[in-house]
Amino acid sequence: MSTALGYREFGAADVQEFFDRPDPVPGPAEVLVRVAAAGVNPLDHLLRSGHVRELNGHVPFPQVLGMEAAGTVLAAGEDATGLEVGDRVTGFALTGAGTYAETTLLLGESTARIPDTLPWTWAATIPVAGTTALDVLDQLDLPVGASLLVNGIGGGVGIAVAQLARDRGLVVTGTGSTAKRELATKYGAAFIDYTASSVVGRFDAVVDTVGGESLRTVAPLAKKLIAVGDQSVTELGGEFVHRRLDRASLERVAELMAAGRLDPHITGTYPLARAHDALALVESRHASGKLVLDLSL
Ligand SMILES: NC(=O)c1ccc[n+]([C@@H]2O[C@H](COP(=O)([O-])OP(=O)(O)OC[C@H]3O[C@@H](n4cnc5c(N)ncnc54)[C@H](OP(=O)(O)O)[C@@H]3O)[C@@H](O)[C@H]2O)c1
Repeated sequence: MSTALGYREFGAADVQEFFDRPDPVPGPAEVLVRVAAAGVNPLDHLLRSGHVRELNGHVPFPQVLGMEAAGTVLAAGEDATGLEVGDRVTGFALTGAGTYAETTLLLGESTARIPDTLPWTWAATIPVAGTTALDVLDQLDLPVGASLLVNGIGGGVGIAVAQLARDRGLVVTGTGSTAKRELATKYGAAFIDYTASSVVGRFDAVVDTVGGESLRTVAPLAKKLIAVGDQSVTELGGEFVHRRLDRASLERVAELMAAGRLDPHITGTYPLARAHDALALVESRHASGKLVLDLSL
């Protein structure tokens, strides 16, 4: 049996509840994993709220929160090639399987082994924020020295984009509220405090992680515009990020972390019993860096 945090109906945070479920049985292309750490992401509350039913409207209740996890393989389906019992891995959960749980199913083709030196909590941030940042920068394919504005540099995706962009020789500026200045500066980015001044300038590219009115404010500043959360970017002449969700991308981000070139900037580590608090902070839309559930706590 496995304890999990989920919901029996769509709604606000008060529909969340803990329950026990039998360990799920992996299909041919899946692996059963003992979760060591799980990332907390905005998509988790969007799924719970029923705002993206095209993604989870078909999944039976109770649904379990969480999309990404790092852990140890307990069982592997026959088509989950390259993954064996006992492997340390990170990956995307099967839709509906959830990762705010002691065990879960990960998709074999979207799961990768991780270096022994990589902490579980770091590895748990690779599938969502880590590979989104990689996909964004590969899609933009900017030359060394190009200027990049990261709208929302203080979030999980924003701070990963900023570091990988600097690593590629780009000149990075980020927007955020006053409390995010120190974070931007730490990773070598210029900073625009959107609460104190207008966001202005001209950039070879803008990566938007905020969406809505904020996206509309920064769109005219970009030669190339890409968004990770707001698909209406295409109405503004920009592109939505193409997500690869493949093993090779997970491995590349794991290598960057192990080599000290990417720090997920974890600002909060929570036991499963306090997952409500972690998700509430993300739902406030003003978290810093990454929040992670650590199942050893
Ligand atoms: N397509 C995909 O596969 C994919 C993958 C990952 C994420 N996403 C989406 O990308 C978005 C960001 O995800 P995340 O994990 O980075 O979120 P997050 O960690 O919760 O960060 C959100 C950040 O937005 C900043 N923010 C809010 N309003 C702002 C504004 N007006 N100007 C500048 N910054 C602002 C906040 O900083 P302040 O406190 O400074 O305002 C906060 O740090 C979400 O919509 C998520 O669903 C999509």
